[in-house]
Amino acid sequence: MTKRVLITGAAGFLGSHLCDYFIAKGYRVVGMDNLITGDLKNLEHLFPLENFEFYNHDVSNYVHVAGSLDYILHFASPASPIDYLKIPIQTLKVGSLGTHNLLGLAKEKKARFLIASTSEVYGDPTVHPQTEDYWGNVNPVGPRSVYDEAKRFQEAITMAYHTFHGLETRIVRIFNTYGPRMRLNDGRVLPAFIGQALRGDDLTIFGDGSQTRSFCYVSDLVEGIYRLLLSDYVEPVNIGNPDEITISDFADEIVKLTGSSQKVIYHPLPQDDPKQRQPDISKARQLLNWEPRISRKEGLKITYEYFKKFTAKQLEETKLNKEF
Ligand SMILES: NC(=O)c1ccc[n+]([C@@H]2O[C@H](COP(=O)([O-])OP(=O)(O)OC[C@H]3O[C@@H](n4cnc5c(N)ncnc54)[C@H](O)[C@@H]3O)[C@@H](O)[C@H]2O)c1
Repeated sequence: MTKRVLITGAAGFLGSHLCDYFIAKGYRVVGMDNLITGDLKNLEHLFPLENFEFYNHDVSNYVHVAGSLDYILHFASPASPIDYLKIPIQTLKVGSLGTHNLLGLAKEKKARFLIASTSEVYGDPTVHPQTEDYWGNVNPVGPRSVYDEAKRFQEAITMAYHTFHGLETRIVRIFNTYGPRMRLNDGRVLPAFIGQALRGDDLTIFGDGSQTRSFCYVSDLVEGIYRLLLSDYVEPVNIGNPDEITISDFADEIVKLTGSSQKVIYHPLPQDDPKQRQPDISKARQLLNWEPRISRKEGLKITYEYFKKFTAKQLEETKLNKEF
């Protein structure tokens, strides 16, 4: 029988790509989202399909889905600092109450449950690159804690349901991912630079640009998540691209790609901003036979082509109106 999967956060960047992936694999997909940071435009191509259903629902409230479910992928959560600092309580709620509600649903349906955790559980890491057995360096009361601690709680309650209720669970720790359908004004460095280059604005770097990030193209991430879901591995697994780059070098890459002639300007680094980010993906390589295939050069080109189609009005509307 065709398997049925519930994807929360379906109208967001990653959720919508996951919906596409599962539909293409022949699954029946139930998308759920309250549209707090998502956009139905990301799903409009799926609405005519028989295998796709959508519920506009806040998963921090009780969740009911009629019929059987084989898998639940919990991706609902504000994900960029700009979002979770604007809606901190909702962020804490969706990571805690939302996860609890969906774990209850998974238990009732005997569905396998996968959560979208994050490299942010490592905080500002003192271990580099980050392996899954590193416990992290998170400030529990700092501005980013609403997201980081919600995700750490999400991992804890998911593991507890596995241990105490025998629920089949999977935990993916996602490192910075990019691609079409990101929002240009979500405050993350990659869409910010692309948006600035397209508008002819200066590129803004926070700090001295020596901090590093590692960017994974979205199709690689989705493939890794699928392999983890179907594996029998319960402990957390990092999925990301270990190809690390400093933000200054990354700004140069964007300038080269877009042919822009803007200056790079520097702003102070926000509090608790991680200085280094690079996943150790030995586990994913070994257990899932997975590694990223799309180089940054290739992925950036696809992403840039997507945003290049934006009209001047769209670019103006997606301008970051707050320095961050
Ligand atoms: N994009 C990344 O690089 C990255 C990295 C690490 C982890 N993640 C995780 O992946 C998931 C998706 O991230 P994204 O980048 O696609 O973000 P996104 O903001 O594009 O998508 C999140 C979606 O969740 C929805 N949502 C939020 N709260 C909800 C609620 N209470 N009920 C129902 N829907 C709700 C939003 O409307 C949105 O559509 C998040 O859980 C995030 O923490 C993403």
